[in-house]
Amino acid sequence: MQIEKPFVRSASRRSILRGGLVGPGLIGAALLTGATPSFARGDDRLTEGDIAILRFLTALEIIEADLWQQYNELGGIQDSEVPGGSGNPAYTAILNTIDGDMSQYIHDNTDDEFSHFKFLNAYLQSKNAPTVSLDKFRTLQSSKASGAQQIGRLTNLTQLTIDTSWWTRYRSSTRNPDFGDTFAQAVPGLSTSQHPAIPRTNADLSPPLHLEAIANTAAFHFGTIEQGGSSLYPALALRVTSVEVLRILLSIGPSETMHFQVWHDKAGNARPITDPVTGLTFPNLAKSQDENLQANLIMPEPTIFLSRKFASFPVSIIRPTETRGAAMGAVKALTDDGLFINQQPGFFTFLNQLAREADEAEREI
Ligand SMILES: [Fe+2]
Ligand SMILES: [Fe+2]
Repeated sequence: MQIEKPFVRSASRRSILRGGLVGPGLIGAALLTGATPSFARGDDRLTEGDIAILRFLTALEIIEADLWQQYNELGGIQDSEVPGGSGNPAYTAILNTIDGDMSQYIHDNTDDEFSHFKFLNAYLQSKNAPTVSLDKFRTLQSSKASGAQQIGRLTNLTQLTIDTSWWTRYRSSTRNPDFGDTFAQAVPGLSTSQHPAIPRTNADLSPPLHLEAIANTAAFHFGTIEQGGSSLYPALALRVTSVEVLRILLSIGPSETMHFQVWHDKAGNARPITDPVTGLTFPNLAKSQDENLQANLIMPEPTIFLSRKFASFPVSIIRPTETRGAAMGAVKALTDDGLFINQQPGFFTFLNQLAREADEAEREI
């Protein structure tokens, strides 16, 4: 194995601290895929940190695509652009009472996630860097409700415990998670116990309020997922070195934010109901007079940023964007949501390793 001029590296820092030509992050990545750790020559050479960040984002985009595909098969538009399912008419109909375009948005969000991971892997490959596959972890069951294809999945949408605190976080004018602040839940019931966001079988298609609660759960989960991406991309962009990789993160990240903004608006249309089967209650956010809850306050409220010395200058921003531990934080958030319930230990080992390597990346300029 010949290592061709591997990648741009500063003359100090990790390479000297760790005493090797190829840092442990890269070795780990190469071992896992059997790939050769050699990278493209030329002006667009990547650091090992760039590659670690891209590989972690690729894994998360594969995970996003997996969950969105499940939503699309049951509640989205069925076409050749996002193939696989045949649609569940009852679930689709109830989703479209939240907004008449829900199926279109679900379809397009799914299409976007596939494009994200396919591009990222193609880019990694173009740099002779190891690509990412999670195929061997596609072991979770599909929904047995009509409309879903029966294939192995990476994610579990039937036992979600959803953090809806992004709702109040984006309405606060004085607090920011980067300062350690915490935020109340918009739908407290979703943040405790486990809830399906898709019908598990056709038995979940009735009574109507039960199915509506499942659709409402999905609507809030959409926002939870996409606000996570809205924060993750800027958080990781702070530690890339290559301008081209920076361009990738600055171009994909805002598309996550565009998704988030749509879902933020749609979740506010969820009717205030109580699931007669589970007791899960959705509060009336549309009628709320509390500015921390009011449904139409979807623009990012100006809040404190960077330092308390700017407390008099609140600014409308994405939040959080703290870069330290951002990748591991994303894995923890997805895991805590129940998305990976029943996944095998090897899945967590691999995902955590990718996250650790991404969090070790340093800007080398
Ligand atoms: Fe994405
Ligand atoms: Fe996304």
